[in-house]
Amino acid sequence: MNTTEKHRYAADLLARSDHIVAFTGSGISSESGIPTFRGKDGLWKKFRAQDLATPIAFSTNPKQVWEWYDWRRQLISEKNLNPGHKTLAEWDNFFASLYVITQNIDGLHQKAGSKKIIELHGNIWKLRCTQKGTIIEDHTTPLKEIPPKCKICGALLRPHVVWFGEALDMALLNQALKLSSHADLMLVIGTSSLVYPAASIPMTAKESGAKIIEINPESTPLTPHADISIRGKSGDVLPQISEILKQKVQKNREKKK
Ligand code: APR
Repeated sequence: MNTTEKHRYAADLLARSDHIVAFTGSGISSESGIPTFRGKDGLWKKFRAQDLATPIAFSTNPKQVWEWYDWRRQLISEKNLNPGHKTLAEWDNFFASLYVITQNIDGLHQKAGSKKIIELHGNIWKLRCTQKGTIIEDHTTPLKEIPPKCKICGALLRPHVVWFGEALDMALLNQALKLSSHADLMLVIGTSSLVYPAASIPMTAKESGAKIIEINPESTPLTPHADISIRGKSGDVLPQISEILKQKVQKNREKKK
């Protein structure tokens, strides 16, 4: 199947689906200028995860960890949404139900207006008290104080994100797995499908009978299991599929007249 045929087939499958889950990774934000983790200019090519994204790194040097997260917050705050984010938000009104399950902490799906979002790895705009666990939302960039302190008890605040070696929020993970097992179709967009337990979500959907559409410029360990794997950038591919989808709906409406 050539790319156009794949886009058509993807639109066909979407048009026949009611319960859709979009499972996203950092690739969907890369066209906005936000680096991925493992790509050519990926964050883990430039920075050592063990120095910046583990509980030990934070207890050893909270200032260094916060300087890095503050840098990432500033970078994200300067970037714009891309057509990939916008198309998924538009599709909220298109389908009976569309959930976005994301590994991203950048908050761009919310910014695009997607209504039903599960953030498996947390959110960079939320800070959590290391003493009481209180979560606050703070979009200040740069942060006024590094490391920031809890206004209630004065304890250190940490980014409300999941670090390597930490467990995901079980309630969120279970909700994501349940949604995936009830989905008719899962779009897997911009993820290397390497980091678990998140990477088990597409296979849960597949094993429950969902169709899998992967969108990624490169193949991944998920590719052999996908019903369609489209080589391309999500900011290009999603609007193209959306166009075909709209024409289909238009045609059906005319037929009914
Ligand atoms: N459109 C679609 N996919 C893209 C694009 C694009 N424009 N640009 C890059 N990609 C793909 C890459 O080919 C790669 O497969 O996005 C994927 C990004 O993979 P990673 O960098 O591994 O990011 P991700 O899968 O989100 O990482 C998962 O790992 O580091 C942890 O917690 C972090 O949530 C993150 C998790």
